[in-house]
Amino acid sequence: MIIAETAAEVRSRVAEWKKEGLTVGLVPTMGYLHEGHASLITRAAGMCDRVVASVFVNPTQFGPGEDLETYPRDFERDCAVLEVHGCDLVFHPDVSELYPEGAATFVEILSDMPKQLCGKTRPIHFRGVCTVVCKLFNIVTPDRAFFGQKDAQQLAVIRRMVRDLCFDIEIVGCPIVRESDGLALSSRNVYLSPEERRAALVLSRAVDLGKRFYAEGETDAGRVVRAMSELISREPLAKIDYVSAVDGETMMPVEELTPGVLVAMAVYIGTTRLIDNFTVGE
Ligand code: PAF
Repeated sequence: MIIAETAAEVRSRVAEWKKEGLTVGLVPTMGYLHEGHASLITRAAGMCDRVVASVFVNPTQFGPGEDLETYPRDFERDCAVLEVHGCDLVFHPDVSELYPEGAATFVEILSDMPKQLCGKTRPIHFRGVCTVVCKLFNIVTPDRAFFGQKDAQQLAVIRRMVRDLCFDIEIVGCPIVRESDGLALSSRNVYLSPEERRAALVLSRAVDLGKRFYAEGETDAGRVVRAMSELISREPLAKIDYVSAVDGETMMPVEELTPGVLVAMAVYIGTTRLIDNFTVGE
């Protein structure tokens, strides 16, 4: 596996592959990889001739007071995970490589979409995500890019950006990977104490409850969201940021659960903010 720190090196490797007629998949990550990331790499390796992963903790998607400084990092371990799952090249740039001195250009979706759900408490988050993903797309020029469905709003925002900016890139959404007890994998799970780890199960229990309500014929979004919220509120270590049912593409609130609707939540367990979701009918 090649480790590249500069955009120039990535470009020249990708150019060689493209000259040979090979397809390229990109898996953007912020490192501290877990089985969820591994599943993205495996999927990319199954669908593309060559796989590029980026490991970059992107400063512009963290707001003031968020965990940019303490975000977990372990590049050596990340490389081992990437290599074993079929990654061909890891792009591990320094901040100055992606944000050169004086960088002042951002990519921002100006509709209400990035202001919903996580955008309410993280107002600059999706601008940072779009900006860095756009840079990565320009450097790697992948045929396909792979993102997890756990970050459902991020996936919707990136699909929007790709359409709006006419990128010729297929965006592949990949299923949430869970621990055996249901907790959705996240690099931030490492922040949880044993007691919080137990309490965090309330998110996947709420997902299961919402799915069960729908399976039993309940389509009133308000009622389902209320039942999920009540379940979460019974956990003393949990504090709800939001539980919402939204259109799976626009992220705007809906009143009825129909196939494709996203039921998403963000919940603080202690000081750790965790997200989880399900898509109706999937
Ligand atoms: O999902 C993530 O890890 C990040 O938001 C991403 C897509 C790598 C952009 O920094």
